[in-house]
Amino acid sequence: MKPTNIRNFAIIAHIDHGKSTLADQLMALTQTVSERDQQAQLLDDMAVEQAHGVTVKSRTVRNFYTDSDGQEYEYNLIDTPGHVDFAYEVSKSLAASDGAILLVDATQGVQAQTVANFRLAQANHLAILPVVNKIDSPAADIERTIAQIRQLSPALATVDPLRISAKTGQGVPAVLAAIKDVFPAPTGSTVAPLKALVFDSLYDSFKGVIAYVRLAAGTLTPGMDNLLMANATTFTNKAIGAFTPDMTPVSQLGVGEVGYVVTGLKDPQALRVGDTLTSQSEPTAQPFPGYQPAQSLVFAGFYPKNKKIRELTLAIEKLALNDSSFHFQAEVSEALGPGVRCGFLGIFHLQIIRERLVTEYGLDVLTTAPNVTYRVHLKGVEQPKLINNPINFPDFDQIEMTEEPLVKATITTPNDLLGAVMQLADAHKGQLVDMGNQGDLIELQYRLPLAEIAYDFFNTLKSLTHGYATLTTAFDGYDLADVVKVEVHLNYARVDALSFIVHRADAPDVAQQLVHKLKYVVPRKLYPMPAQAVVEGKPLARVDIPPLRKNAAVNGEQRSVSKKQALLRRQSVNKRQAAHSDLQLSQEVFNAILDLS
Ligand code: GTP
Repeated sequence: MKPTNIRNFAIIAHIDHGKSTLADQLMALTQTVSERDQQAQLLDDMAVEQAHGVTVKSRTVRNFYTDSDGQEYEYNLIDTPGHVDFAYEVSKSLAASDGAILLVDATQGVQAQTVANFRLAQANHLAILPVVNKIDSPAADIERTIAQIRQLSPALATVDPLRISAKTGQGVPAVLAAIKDVFPAPTGSTVAPLKALVFDSLYDSFKGVIAYVRLAAGTLTPGMDNLLMANATTFTNKAIGAFTPDMTPVSQLGVGEVGYVVTGLKDPQALRVGDTLTSQSEPTAQPFPGYQPAQSLVFAGFYPKNKKIRELTLAIEKLALNDSSFHFQAEVSEALGPGVRCGFLGIFHLQIIRERLVTEYGLDVLTTAPNVTYRVHLKGVEQPKLINNPINFPDFDQIEMTEEPLVKATITTPNDLLGAVMQLADAHKGQLVDMGNQGDLIELQYRLPLAEIAYDFFNTLKSLTHGYATLTTAFDGYDLADVVKVEVHLNYARVDALSFIVHRADAPDVAQQLVHKLKYVVPRKLYPMPAQAVVEGKPLARVDIPPLRKNAAVNGEQRSVSKKQALLRRQSVNKRQAAHSDLQLSQEVFNAILDLS
């Protein structure tokens, strides 16, 4: 296809505003998928996506569109996720696109993520096609939504957005026609050396690493000797193809086209998203600058059940290839043995990775309580230490001061729920920085410790406001924090994997709550076992986990006194002798820490 008839674009929107539904409609109208193959939400095919009803990975699909004059166009559509934890995926798709459909749900209007994604698209210099969705819904307020879109930027002040129902298909043909008019055709030389942007990748157990590429110059053919410029990795490609939406081999990819390359590389680390793919014999002189790697905000340890550490490490390497916002390194715990410390963009991202390990690799893992990165200044040492694992948190008498990460959180909420939202933010140590109106919505700017919002803040906010409030966050540097490490001792032995870090003021409360929860989740032994929460060497709270035994002393036992005494003697195991290593920690024990408020 000649570049003038190609259009590469993304759909950006707030979560649940209908991106995947629209993508399905566009594919149906261009007969990219036959009606027989249509299943609900064709693009959200990952098991976790269907379970949660949200898009996690970006998808790419090639459609052929014939306009009213009989001209054929190649439309490469990239569907993107909407959840805040996956903003990084959105920026990758945008780098491979020339235009973006800005889809806004008429029943909800412009929401926080609409604004954030629109700003990303602007930063990538994309042409914007505003579209109002869900006009079939009785709750739709089309005029108000259009007014909100016009307020987004001076460039949109006079636009007349298309009005559609992605569900019924009403208005969708006009979207197809507008794409070729609004979005620019890709530019680039067909005779220059091959230069392709690797904007995503995938690991296939049979084929190895598969790179998703967009060609900026030259031609790509099957069997070509290719070069990945970041690490000077060379390979002869095994196949190339396009997404229709399944992977379909093609005989060549030209300038502006989007497709995949089967590299045959077996090492998941060999390829970096953002890399430049070129030809070995005639490499391009100007590689792409590459993406900024995403910064992990929440960390947790994954420990394999059944001691399958090799399988777990391999699976995690493969997942990391497919999701460049996910980082990992090996770690060892005294209590749990070898494991992997992983970094995520948020707690939902953690859940998704964990579920993908189960559904795609059959691996069940214990997850330690998540935590953020602390900057610890040690006495007499100039450089602060970055600690993202409570096990490594230094002893309190070595610490000069500690800093914790903060985020700038923008919460958009309807006016009548303002009180509840402000209470929630206060309870999480939020400092109100600014407050303003965005149409009928109130926009609140808070500065909050990341540790306070990383876990359940978003879910509480959603349930408190029945889903009407939205949250976007941006990292906002470090600030001094008086934090302490809470260690959990079971039967007088420290269980390192259960350590976590809290604000000093919260420690007594948290310690009490924790030991009371542990009483019910730690598996019982034949002897009573104390569970203690210890801070700076001092036990702050203690409960005794009752033993698992027949109570010889209860009334009504039909036994002689001497038999009762014999039973008691047998049961009185010296508790200090019992090694803690025979403790089987279950996920419930870690959840007890996670659930603390
Ligand atoms: P994420 O993948 O989670 O980001 O969501 P999404 O933006 O892809 O939204 P999705 O297409 O999954 O749609 C969300 C919900 O809105 C689904 O229940 C759809 O059936 C519904 N929906 C989408 N378009 C329309 C529409 O035009 N009218 C009505 N009434 N409902 C719609």
